[in-house]
Amino acid sequence: MKVLVIGSGGREHALIWKIAQSPHVTQLFCAPGNPGMAHIAELIQIPVHDIDRLLSFAKIRGVDLTVVGPELPLSLKIVDRFREKGLRIFGPTQAAAAIETSKVFSKSLMDKYGIPTAKSEVVSHKDAYARIAAMELPIVLKVDGLAAGKGVVIAHNQAEAIAGLDGFKKMGHAAEQVIIEEYLEGIELSFFVVTDGKNALSVGSAQDHKRVFDGNRGPNTGGMGAFSPSPLLTPNLEDEIMSKVIYPTLQAMAKEGCAYTGILYAGIMLTKNGLSVLEFNARWGDPEAQAILPRLKTDWVKVMEATIDGQLDQVRLEWETGESICLVLTSGGYPGPYEKGKPISGLNAERPASITIFHAGTTLEEGQWLSAGGRVLGVTAIGKNLAAARKQAYETIKQISFEKMHYRSDIGITTST
Ligand code: AMP
Ligand code: GLY
Repeated sequence: MKVLVIGSGGREHALIWKIAQSPHVTQLFCAPGNPGMAHIAELIQIPVHDIDRLLSFAKIRGVDLTVVGPELPLSLKIVDRFREKGLRIFGPTQAAAAIETSKVFSKSLMDKYGIPTAKSEVVSHKDAYARIAAMELPIVLKVDGLAAGKGVVIAHNQAEAIAGLDGFKKMGHAAEQVIIEEYLEGIELSFFVVTDGKNALSVGSAQDHKRVFDGNRGPNTGGMGAFSPSPLLTPNLEDEIMSKVIYPTLQAMAKEGCAYTGILYAGIMLTKNGLSVLEFNARWGDPEAQAILPRLKTDWVKVMEATIDGQLDQVRLEWETGESICLVLTSGGYPGPYEKGKPISGLNAERPASITIFHAGTTLEEGQWLSAGGRVLGVTAIGKNLAAARKQAYETIKQISFEKMHYRSDIGITTST
């Protein structure tokens, strides 16, 4: 069977790596992919937003299954358009992906159906200034639309709130509506399910580390590292998340006429008053996928096929017994400006099977790997427990270097993000 993966980051490399292990796969494509996966997938130079070309590629090349990594093509109706043409594709429709792409939609869905989430109100960007002036702080300000991780501001005082709203101005349409949300204190957990709209299977938990520096300091990034499973996720908590969040959300989406299929990612805050949903995403997390997928024993292609066929009730997921960690190596300066094109050494060394290196932002020029993005590499290790995995992963990154390479040295020690 021929499989096409859409996207180009570490998450997509982890997906391709996992899909390549399926005995059902005869040919793998990635659009646009990155050179780190070129030995297992043919790279197709079509950007993720060019749905017309992706569709004609899939038709002409007889692709049997398309897998969507990032949210942008979901918001551009990739799933709807492939389905209309009778092509099999894994992911939610545009209307269902609104659970991520519109915070106004997801907050109102949660409020309407009693899914636990912070109290909030929606105002226009223009009216938000007057509204916050009368409010007690801290508060959280969020833009409605996609904002590449820059759409959330935690304001501890009026000056921060005003600066946050001013910063939203450059986001145009995405910030026409602003959500003013109650500030919650607690510990965060990323929880993932695969769902066919009715049945949902936990694909586990991972703890992301969003801030760029050790000790959770500095600006938010796409994610500096993750470990899985999260020790916070007890069987009781998992049952509670499934019964209070996941199933009610799937039922709500079906009632609203936009049944959800694919990966559903719930960002959850564990507060002293119980759990609360911070946000939903309509896709795998990155780097969380790089930590979770290597622990999965089950053939992921079969799971995706059962999802598309509405037969997830027939599937059981099997996991490695160990624990995993993914460390992200970034270009110094990220998430701000950074330099690219730095030669990377140590990538070609022999490594044990418990270590996998996923590429996120690299290029290959005349046999030399060069940095080509903010997040450059993800180093995943599986060990008998988190401490063992952690040790192996940090040993491995000692062998890899490029000028101004940065990483956090406390992944797997701190529990909050
Ligand atoms: P979101 O994109 O909504 O997940 O927000 C990004 C990050 O902002 C989360 O991972 C939290 O660290 C933080 N955050 C979001 N909403 C809240 C809230 N209501 N209270 C405290 N922190 C929040
Ligand atoms: N690591 C967070 C995300 O993928 O949204």
